[in-house]
Amino acid sequence: MEKILVLDFGGQYDQLIARRVRDLHVYAEIVPYNRITPEEIAAAGYAGIIFTGGPNSVYEPASPHCSPAVLKLGIPVLGICYGIQLIAYLAGGTVSSAEDSSEYGKTVLRVRENPLFEGVPDESICWMSHTDYISAVPEGFSVIADTPRCPCAAMCDASGLLFGVQFHPEVMHTEYGKTVLSNFLFRVCRCSGDWRTEDYAEELTAALTEKLRGKRVLLALSGGVDSSVAAMLLHRAVGDGLTCIFVDHGLLRKGEAAFVERTFRQERGLNLVCVDASRRFLEKLSGVTDPERKRRIIGEEFIRVFEEEAARIGHVHVLAQGTIYPDVIESGKGDSAVIKSHHNVGGLPDVISFDEIVEPLRELFKDEVRRVGTALGLPKELVWRQPFPGPGLAVRITGEITAEKIRLLQEADAIFREEIENAGLDPLPDQYFAVLTDTRSVGVMGDARTYGYTCALRAVQTDDFMTAAWSRLPYEVLERASSRITNEVRGISRVVYDISSKPPSTVEWE
Ligand code: XMP
Repeated sequence: MEKILVLDFGGQYDQLIARRVRDLHVYAEIVPYNRITPEEIAAAGYAGIIFTGGPNSVYEPASPHCSPAVLKLGIPVLGICYGIQLIAYLAGGTVSSAEDSSEYGKTVLRVRENPLFEGVPDESICWMSHTDYISAVPEGFSVIADTPRCPCAAMCDASGLLFGVQFHPEVMHTEYGKTVLSNFLFRVCRCSGDWRTEDYAEELTAALTEKLRGKRVLLALSGGVDSSVAAMLLHRAVGDGLTCIFVDHGLLRKGEAAFVERTFRQERGLNLVCVDASRRFLEKLSGVTDPERKRRIIGEEFIRVFEEEAARIGHVHVLAQGTIYPDVIESGKGDSAVIKSHHNVGGLPDVISFDEIVEPLRELFKDEVRRVGTALGLPKELVWRQPFPGPGLAVRITGEITAEKIRLLQEADAIFREEIENAGLDPLPDQYFAVLTDTRSVGVMGDARTYGYTCALRAVQTDDFMTAAWSRLPYEVLERASSRITNEVRGISRVVYDISSKPPSTVEWE
């Protein structure tokens, strides 16, 4: 299979580079610089190699270096940031440090004629981030781009196989970054570009089958996109060697527990343990009104239930997690010891013994996970589901949580979601749900006075959930939802629409 090696020298953007290559329909795999030899690179049949950035200076003795032999394999190489400096250094050029030549952020790139810059205007904006610079290119190399403060912003050698760019083509701020990467892949490496994300499902399954042969694997399945896709991959790889535990804390959306059970156990034959722990969670939450305490209780209890169930299975070899790449960034790159707990509200189970942790989706971005999920045949409603917080409806019920309040919220929320989904909105809000406030107000039904809860509707538009704008929903949609909720859900007598954005409000209420 046609593939590109992304040789990792510790940069922040390694995954982004791999992702950009995959977006251009060429498979890319990331390997740390010290985990592969030149012989192994040659044997693996890579169409090209990309050296990533990194925080070091190439002339420091402890900085990460690969063997100079990598440059002599006859395979095209593109060095990015630290990568270009490493090529310069290994090939006999000079890399220097000067405070006044450091550059951070957007700058004007001036390019010369070269296959790498086909389709790139003479001047464009690029993104720089470096202190060191190449003060003398190696023999046989020529400078093919510069910036006002960087005399060698790109170089290539006479053979037309070795290239380097000081700027970051993988970040959006570099106007023609995609063109540069595309030129490297298709003009230099002569890739055909016939790889699709969907192929990932096959590759990941094959790799997991090999790695996990004969091992007992345990996964906490939440019914969210990531753990669901991870479950399907692992199931395909080890079949009954995989046990999934689904903890129903009783704070799920209407019909959700049944949906998960049907989708995974009945329809796809996964070895799934469903634990109805709703009563147990309710007891723990009884009388608790403080939002943080609610979250803590749910997180801790979740872990306890999971541990108890796992103990029944006995020793597991592998604990699998649905960690995806944005989680890895949040947890600190390369720090595989920092584990995102299943619901990211608690910690990692501490009484389960296992030999290793496997995170099959660790290299993927959310949209790639969704595409893999689709390729694995997961239903659309699961693959495209909106985010749902680990503590569930608990963060959408203000005041004490009771079985009655959960039921009212589940009903109201199901109606609101149905109305939104039937309204054909474009774009659909990124998250939309109902909240049950602790406020009761007077209403009238028939000739009788009512005194029911106030339900708040929330819908937001966002790119990353760090900031969010409230959705300008059509009045008709709001009206239908309000009217149905107050008519169909006995106990709710008033509906309001939340028009606060984040910040200063958060998406969830608690
Ligand atoms: P906030 O309320 O912080 O929410 O603006 C931002 C996004 O994060 C989700 N969220 C959570 N997800 N566990 C999760 O897995 C949690 O404890 C949690 N709290 C909030 C929220 O639904 C929104 O998408």
